[in-house]
Amino acid sequence: MTKKYKVAVFGGDGIGPEVTREAFKVLDVVSEMGGFEIDRTDYPHGSEHYLATGELLPDEILDQVRGMDAAYLGAIGDPRVEVGLVERAIIAGLRFNLDLFVNLRPIRLLSEKFCPLKGKGPDDIDFVVVRENTEDAYAGIGGILKKGTAQEVAMQQMVYTRHGVERVIRFAFELARKRNRQKKLMLVDKANAIRAQDIWTRTFAEVGEEFPDIEQDHAYVDAACMWMIKNPESFDTVVTTNLFGDIITDLGAVLQGGMGVAASGNIHPGQVSMFESIHGSAPKYKGKNVSCPIAAIAAVQMMLDHLGEAGASARVEGAVESVLQGKDVTSVSASSGISTDEWGDRVIEKIRTL
Ligand code: IPM
Ligand code: MN
Repeated sequence: MTKKYKVAVFGGDGIGPEVTREAFKVLDVVSEMGGFEIDRTDYPHGSEHYLATGELLPDEILDQVRGMDAAYLGAIGDPRVEVGLVERAIIAGLRFNLDLFVNLRPIRLLSEKFCPLKGKGPDDIDFVVVRENTEDAYAGIGGILKKGTAQEVAMQQMVYTRHGVERVIRFAFELARKRNRQKKLMLVDKANAIRAQDIWTRTFAEVGEEFPDIEQDHAYVDAACMWMIKNPESFDTVVTTNLFGDIITDLGAVLQGGMGVAASGNIHPGQVSMFESIHGSAPKYKGKNVSCPIAAIAAVQMMLDHLGEAGASARVEGAVESVLQGKDVTSVSASSGISTDEWGDRVIEKIRTL
């Protein structure tokens, strides 16, 4: 019997649906070649749906997604809706409710021409950030008191649990071992100023004892930003908090060519996990067919990895790399001169010919 994977697809807002279309065009080709099927269920949830119906992400939809093999998200965000409302409901809603405690963000430069750093190339920029994904300032503990008055108080708690910190650190050590490159894991925190992050320092050292083959490295987040620019080649595997992971992976995305190429996996090993681009919904490019769907395609590639379809994943990865090396490919931004569907066609052509 043919293997069939159930995938929940949230095309979302802005350019989300068009980059998702290209990503699934590519997925259809590799699934046929690989002899497996994708049973796709599309969900309309996003800002448009919210504006039309008032509905964000109901529990029954979450329950449906729990019964699937993977979820895929195009992009979320619309300036017509209150800042962060739909992002929190859908992106954070999936991350928190499905307990997707790892946000895996590979930073790999595929072609020298996209690198903004002088004298650095693909050999220098190849690392991965493991961002904790269910705690920290994102946990939703906080609020505003006496809003709009002279006595206003605003608080948002950075929440770290032993369970949450330990599981993501263990995942990162295992990943550093699996990558088998520098065999090094760097903890990025700000434990000198934010003393609650001492829980990260201690847990890192304790879990690290189970991994004597992996070197333990550490950088405060400010210094890590500096090292990412100065010596990106010294990075292999990084583990960090939710908020710092959010920030340093935008920096990382630029090192690998920009938001047009950066993808991520929101993962709970062995359970339904969610894959998405790092970029936003870019409303001004919506429907213009100018956005680069490479990040969306790379998210499909990560999803294939998670599903255990290593062959199909490698095919997509190789094709993307080869497309980006094309002579007329000079950028992955909306001004690349290559249309959204042309990008998808190029990747498919490479998949068929490589
Ligand atoms: C990301 C995004 C989200 C985050 C926003 C949209 C809530 O920036 O996935 O990196 O901060 O996690
Ligand atoms: Mn972000």
